[in-house]
Amino acid sequence: MHNLSVIQEFPSDFIFGVATSSYQIEGNKNGDCGLSIWDDFARKKLNGIDGKEACRHLDFFKEDIKLIKDAGFKSYRFSFSWPRLFPEKNQKLNNLGLDFYNRLLDEIHKQELEPYPTLYHWDLPIRFQDQGGWTNKDTAKYFSDFALFIAEHFSDRYNKIATINEPWCVSWLSHYLGEHAPGIKDLRSAAQAMHNILYAHGLAVTALKSISSSEVGIVLNNEYASPINDDPNNIDAANLFDAIYNRWFSDAIFLGKYPEIALEVLGKYLPSEFRDDLKIISTPIDWLGLNYYTRSLIKNYKSNDGINYECLRGDLKKTDMDWEFYPQGLGYFIERIHNEYNKKIPIYITENGMANKDFLNEKNEIIDLDRIEYFDLHLKEVLKCLNKGIPIKGYFAWSLMDNYEWSFGYEKRFGMVYVDYQSFKRIPKKSYYEFQKYLCV
Ligand code: FCB
Repeated sequence: MHNLSVIQEFPSDFIFGVATSSYQIEGNKNGDCGLSIWDDFARKKLNGIDGKEACRHLDFFKEDIKLIKDAGFKSYRFSFSWPRLFPEKNQKLNNLGLDFYNRLLDEIHKQELEPYPTLYHWDLPIRFQDQGGWTNKDTAKYFSDFALFIAEHFSDRYNKIATINEPWCVSWLSHYLGEHAPGIKDLRSAAQAMHNILYAHGLAVTALKSISSSEVGIVLNNEYASPINDDPNNIDAANLFDAIYNRWFSDAIFLGKYPEIALEVLGKYLPSEFRDDLKIISTPIDWLGLNYYTRSLIKNYKSNDGINYECLRGDLKKTDMDWEFYPQGLGYFIERIHNEYNKKIPIYITENGMANKDFLNEKNEIIDLDRIEYFDLHLKEVLKCLNKGIPIKGYFAWSLMDNYEWSFGYEKRFGMVYVDYQSFKRIPKKSYYEFQKYLCV
């Protein structure tokens, strides 16, 4: 039987926290929030299942922050909603949005938690999509203005901030696979977005630092690539997958270049000045956030566009997303960042967790043992790396509570707290109490 006693072996200054994001929890129907690309995508592709209500965090944020505090977590990773702050085309500030984030930050501090805000967790104001969204380089400039605004108004209340959450999802998942907003399936658009989102990050680092001395990072999601067997074609396929999914972003940020094998297929779609932009993209950061969930089995697949791989799932134990439990991958990426990119960079695991078919039993409890096992296995990997001397500073569980899981709507439950979407009642699950047991000592 799994438990989280491993927590006791972490150093006392190691930060345990929880993560959420604006569109997934806030509910955007109130507070004069503007529309984002997710509202449009939900209307067109998800039968209208959107984030209008979500968890109604806008109304319940005090209760939610208290839940974080009561479990013994020390910090809270959340994101600012760009369309909530700037809903209109004329870029006029929404005072209700400003007021909300002021109250949120004040509450976080009142509960003595440390805020880890993210500037962009996917809710791009819809007005930018009309001009090409992330395929348009101008969006990066607008983003940098937004970063400046955030620093001017809030940097007195955070010490660390991340620019972008998961640039692979913003670009590849959303512009090549078409599974996320804006739902485009086009290699050129994907390559442009892969570059522009990183360029936006680079500009934002400078913007944020021009106002305050807070530490700036970015949050990358890495997925482990296992070739389906040792056939050299499958190994090549796995290397290409790794180059596009993982190394594209980490090479650009830490080394100021893109991996050659990815450039062979994507280079022709990049702006001619992309190598100059890479100087901005690789502006030094102060910390790195790593999100990790699973691995993919990779098989060679001859395509017309040069993306010669397909992704399969293996036979390991799976979550409700059909994602395999593969904790070794987390250790692998921590070591890779440390050994191949930057030995000094402080690493935070900014997301890790699983969707589970959670239900209330007759005693009104949710016994999510698989989630406890998942956390336990991944925390053990983190500890192994810590014991090797790698500067891992924190671990944020995804997620505080069940929420809007993007194209899966409300079906997939990732929370340590159950949300009843009729009453909006929050019910802590067994995994929540398990953290509490070891964090509140
Ligand atoms: C990550 C996202 C987060 C959530 C989890 C399950 O890719 O950053 O918003 O959807 O996956």
